[in-house]
Amino acid sequence: MTERIPLSAPDITDAEIAAVTAVLRTPCLSLGPELEAFEKALAEYHGVDHAVVVSSGTAGLHLALLALGIGEGDEVILPSFAFVAVANAVLQVRAMPVFAEIDAATLNLEPAAVERAVSRRTRAILVVHTFGVPAQMDALGTIARRHGLAIIEDACEALGARFGDETESRRVGSFGDLAVFGFYPNKQLTTGEGGAVLCRDAVHAAQLRSLRNQGRRCDGNAAPKSGASISGWLDHAEPGYNYRLSEMACALGRAQLSRLGEMLAMRKAAAQRYDKLLAQTPGVERPPLHRVQREISWFVYAVRLPADVDRDHVQSALAHDGIATGRYFPPIHLQPAWRGHSSATVSLPVTEAIASRMLALPFFNRIEERQQKKVVEALRWAVSSR
Ligand SMILES: Cc1ncc(COP(=O)(O)O)c(C=O)c1O
Repeated sequence: MTERIPLSAPDITDAEIAAVTAVLRTPCLSLGPELEAFEKALAEYHGVDHAVVVSSGTAGLHLALLALGIGEGDEVILPSFAFVAVANAVLQVRAMPVFAEIDAATLNLEPAAVERAVSRRTRAILVVHTFGVPAQMDALGTIARRHGLAIIEDACEALGARFGDETESRRVGSFGDLAVFGFYPNKQLTTGEGGAVLCRDAVHAAQLRSLRNQGRRCDGNAAPKSGASISGWLDHAEPGYNYRLSEMACALGRAQLSRLGEMLAMRKAAAQRYDKLLAQTPGVERPPLHRVQREISWFVYAVRLPADVDRDHVQSALAHDGIATGRYFPPIHLQPAWRGHSSATVSLPVTEAIASRMLALPFFNRIEERQQKKVVEALRWAVSSR
């Protein structure tokens, strides 16, 4: 039987299964000690004051925009070469997404294009660290300061990446006013579903905790103890949401975070193996990331095919060999869901040209060199037989 090689795969250890099981043996399955410990560990890892865990990266984006008071009449600058949730979150708060062009090498927002997109309605820049590659936080920070804009980092794909130079670098997520992470199973760290928002400001943190827990102003982390009064539990100071993350998910996240360094090293080694194997594959362009300032946290390994190669043909040829691939990312402004929206009537030639050539290869912590050789062999054959 043909071996199937998935695009991504979670990496869960026995210790992590034991951590989740241990929670299931307690009466506290939500809003308990695991949540507090996971938040503390995330804040410490990033050197920021507050981490608020939520039910997904999308929920985190929604809350980050709400915490900044962004709403109707406001504009938020963001890339179109991104997962669709970033733009949907902006729409969810009734603000206007303004798509800006990306840098062809890093696939991150091009600072000069961001500056051109600033208008008197702009309130924030939503900076996505695409594929785990740190965005130009120095230049983007300067633009934000010059125009009085907030920065929300979307670090859903970039946990552990660092930006800076030889002398000083910091983890992404510690630069913006708020930063959002996602823990879906294809991410560097998973809680099944889940996410987190980091912030520096205690007022933002209190608001995030309240909003994720149905607008309860009481300590957002405290659920009623069994048998105790539930009076505070039914007092809602503002309209909110159920964006809570379960104790089981927090236990898994905390255990995963404790070995994140090891997991990121496995991913970096896998990327280096692809780089080496693909060096002898004519026509397939490897990620051109040699100029990246500091440290990538490898999320996916995506190559660029020649413009005259039929990507669908390549994908089906690989699928025939049991190899999954992904078209990361179709630009948001070209998605059927965005057709007719005024944000979508934008010309982004770099985004469009690059997106049409991208192909993500199978990439996960424990991918074996043997599997990568098989992927590269199949890719070489498919590209040459176009
Ligand atoms: C850049 C980016 N933002 C937001 C999200 C949304 O995260 P979630 O799927 O946890 O809602 C993702 C998920 O893939 C993402 O890659």
